[in-house]
Amino acid sequence: MADQYAQSGEDSRPTEIPAIRWEEPPEGPVLVLLDQTRLPAEEVERVCTDAPALVEAIRSLAVRGAPLLGIAGAYGVALAAARGFDVDEAATALGGARPTAVNLAVGVRRAQTAYRTEFATSGDAGQAASAALAAARQLHKEDAEASARMAECGLALLDELLPGGGHRILTHCNTGSLVSGGEGTAFAVALAAHRAGRLRRLWVDETRPLLQGARLTGYEAARSGMAYTLLTDNAAGSLFAAGEVDAVLIGADRIAADGSVANKVGSYPLAVLARYHHVPFIVVAPVTTVDPDTPDGASIEIEQRPGHEVTEVTAPQVPVAGAEAGGGIPVAPLGTQAYNPAFDVTPPELVTAIVTEEGAVSPVTAEALAELCARSRQVTIS
Ligand code: MRU
Repeated sequence: MADQYAQSGEDSRPTEIPAIRWEEPPEGPVLVLLDQTRLPAEEVERVCTDAPALVEAIRSLAVRGAPLLGIAGAYGVALAAARGFDVDEAATALGGARPTAVNLAVGVRRAQTAYRTEFATSGDAGQAASAALAAARQLHKEDAEASARMAECGLALLDELLPGGGHRILTHCNTGSLVSGGEGTAFAVALAAHRAGRLRRLWVDETRPLLQGARLTGYEAARSGMAYTLLTDNAAGSLFAAGEVDAVLIGADRIAADGSVANKVGSYPLAVLARYHHVPFIVVAPVTTVDPDTPDGASIEIEQRPGHEVTEVTAPQVPVAGAEAGGGIPVAPLGTQAYNPAFDVTPPELVTAIVTEEGAVSPVTAEALAELCARSRQVTIS
């Protein structure tokens, strides 16, 4: 396929606003989020002063993506503690804000445990709040480190699987610095390939219905100066058939103990296409996304989103927060029912490899994943 269809990423401005940050103005601590519902039209920040505001930001996807949800959840608990709210109540609300990304519950639990442990020892709520904040900051830092190691490990795997270089990578949803303490998961691998001069093209699925690919991966790819091209999700089949995809790289919201991968809806069809066309299908995720307590794919709770996300289109520059329905432009007859799962599950036999900060697992088996998680626990404990 000729490159006249390709949009070259020429906007190489760095992303200047972090996806999340903790601030302590005189009025009291706040959590500041880059509002992802407004990108790429506007870089607008949203300030949360309590857990309910953060829960709303999580549900409306102002803050989103598995690793960042974990970080946000941990800071949310710290925020409740620092402002003197009921920490357990906040933790329950935050942990249940979205069900599929296991990182959210993990992040919340980590800060809540730090709070409880310190309070049990010192009996001092102020010290306990500091412990919760320290736990959130540590998780944020660890996620950045994990991201760098996943990028390194993922690029090594790509180079091994595709020794010719000039990688043409297809990705889905958004997995870059907008979802991470660092440069992300799957996107960080593509970025590493770009920096090494080995990325020929990043194919970006638009990711219906909320367009995380078009809006957010496009935004990040442009800022990184990557050669990227946007396609509608349903154009992926013909792209594979034309021999234009060397590898698929996606992130994950939860990986069950058997290696089943829940990720943004549309990932499973890509895995089926990849298998048919003999293309590697690679999942990149931190170890915190592996959930040993979820035995298999059928046990993963899939979030169902409101139908108006499918029956209406909304321009990102038109804020819809608080509106009764979506407030968008209808594209289906009034009253049309919609099927709108936010995620789907890819069985392990369709996954070529899972890349984590602790190394890659291939073939993907329950035993190999369990061993990787055990290794990670040893590293964390020692
Ligand atoms: O509904 P979202 O936008 O939160 O979904 C995000 C994804 O599906 C990502 O691919 C996943 O969280 C992995 S991010 C590293």
